[in-house]
Amino acid sequence: MQCGRNKIEVKLEMMIDNIFSGIPVQYENIAEATKAIAFNMASDMQTGSLLKTLVASKPSGRILELGTGTGLATSWIIAGMDDKTNFITIENNELLLDIARNALKDARVEFVLADGYEWIQSYSGQTFDLVFADAMPGKYDLFEETIGLVKVGGFYIIDDMIPQPNWPGGHADKVERFIVELENRNDIILTKLNWSTGIIVVTKIK
Ligand SMILES: C[S@@+](CC[C@H](N)C(=O)[O-])C[C@H]1O[C@@H](n2cnc3c(N)ncnc32)[C@H](O)[C@@H]1O
Repeated sequence: MQCGRNKIEVKLEMMIDNIFSGIPVQYENIAEATKAIAFNMASDMQTGSLLKTLVASKPSGRILELGTGTGLATSWIIAGMDDKTNFITIENNELLLDIARNALKDARVEFVLADGYEWIQSYSGQTFDLVFADAMPGKYDLFEETIGLVKVGGFYIIDDMIPQPNWPGGHADKVERFIVELENRNDIILTKLNWSTGIIVVTKIK
């Protein structure tokens, strides 16, 4: 019996989900810079690890991130990309974007200093295999336009769907309305993960 109990304990330990392998080499430097400027909207490591895993399922893929921040999730996305994958990441704050682009110089990545609202509405290039929508534009605003940028079979990923200390007043209602809107669509399939900051993994089917 003792032997069996040990076995169960070992198995549970193997499923601890806040110890990570394959952390991007630039992650720690970016995390330090993020702390130094007290940027409090950074994506966590669980989200990053999930993004890396999903991006790796899209060889020769096209990836879009809306809301680069200082590049924490960006570093995980890059770590999941193969040589032929291209990645565009959009941020409207130059200070934040500079931290990301200086730490993550990579020919496969286009760091774009732009307003996400304008960028989404003016973009006329190819669609994407995965969109990580981590800013108001692309998530609570211009969702229709943004889901239109995802290929059929592609992923649309959002985090911060569980109440966070940095949510402004009234945000919870916005989140609730958005989840209902997503659940009522017939062109996507989704799974809600009550994990990390609250993630929704959406696959576009039409
Ligand atoms: C939740 S944070 C992004 C966190 C980041 N993905 C990470 O891995 O840490 C949202 C980001 O969106 C940016 N942002 C807000 N409004 C924007 C807009 N209209 N256009 C582009 N970026 C915007 C903010 O400056 C902020 O860096």
